Amino acid sequence: MSSTKDSTVAFAFDIDGVLVKGKKPIPGARETIQLLQGLRIPFIFLTNGGGHTEEAHVAKLGQRLDLTLGAKQFVQSHTPFLDLVPKYGEKTVLVLGGLGQQIRDLAHAYGFKNVVTSSDIMAACEHVHPFPEMTRDHHSEHGRSSSLDTPLGSTQIAAILVWTSPRDWCLDLQVATDLLLSDAGVIGTRSPANGDDALPNSGFQRGGQPELFFCNPDFEWSTEHEHPRFAQGAFREALKGVWRQATGGRAELEYNLLGKPTAATYRYGERVLREYAAGAPDAPSQRASAIDTVYMVGDNPESDIVGANSYQSPHGIAWKSILVETGVYKANSVPSHKPYHTAPNVAAAVEWALKREG
Ligand code: G3P
Ligand code: MG
Repeated sequence: MSSTKDSTVAFAFDIDGVLVKGKKPIPGARETIQLLQGLRIPFIFLTNGGGHTEEAHVAKLGQRLDLTLGAKQFVQSHTPFLDLVPKYGEKTVLVLGGLGQQIRDLAHAYGFKNVVTSSDIMAACEHVHPFPEMTRDHHSEHGRSSSLDTPLGSTQIAAILVWTSPRDWCLDLQVATDLLLSDAGVIGTRSPANGDDALPNSGFQRGGQPELFFCNPDFEWSTEHEHPRFAQGAFREALKGVWRQATGGRAELEYNLLGKPTAATYRYGERVLREYAAGAPDAPSQRASAIDTVYMVGDNPESDIVGANSYQSPHGIAWKSILVETGVYKANSVPSHKPYHTAPNVAAAVEWALKREG
């Protein structure tokens, strides 16, 4: 078994489908985390979930597992948005996903000072939503027309950040498309460059429109439902389809993608893991430089497994994937990406890895 200071092994845990399923803990998850805490083996949580601050989200996970966990060990889908604050913190950004007010507060907590939601746009421009009947009350409650210069605004939106799965897809698809076609990010305008075949991408997204960021590529995720449910990646696919149609098939949607399986998120996770191992007050006394292997335990081949398999660490750390059978991936099926190892659940995964590391 790996010992305290000589240990060179660390773990990264996916959450949904590995440690919990909806609100319920997965059997053996609590004991596994406790075991690693007792052995002082460093680990982080690396999830494509989000919607709360790192502190609030890790507290929620701790409650579900009945454990005390630290925010310094926690990387969620939108945690790397922190790196965008120097560029966009003083500009105006549109935030999409979750309940508008919650994401507005979250973006403020990260350091984005000027935050607009799609509910705000609806409050400022009442005909923006073609089908408002079912969601009007929610948007009236949460939208602040004062966030924009009414009626159509002279506010320039510099970036669109999708934080979690949008709830009112029709409005959000409409607002995002409007802005991506706009003249320099001003709501209600259209760029003269759109459709100019002399420009790359036929001039689409060449008129100073906002940069678009997604943070969770997952098309689906594991919940209490018997079949996986749509995640943020499904909304991205919808927007790509709408965009193709909106541009007459002449342009592909251009965007930035964070979250597992992107290398950017694995790099971010590795940074957090090394910092945690090296210095957090409640962290293992192991030096970050001593880590040479990270086992990524996940349930989604498209996210956890391919991400760990393809990540090239700048610190020479080997990331090895372990696929569990308690979430998206089902036992006896063929995973779309071959893991380093397969285990029935997280307890068996960690037991196998620790034995292997001796
Ligand atoms: O994609 C939805 C998200 O909640 C999945 O979380 O922990 O399985 O990466 P996780
Ligand atoms: Mg998962």
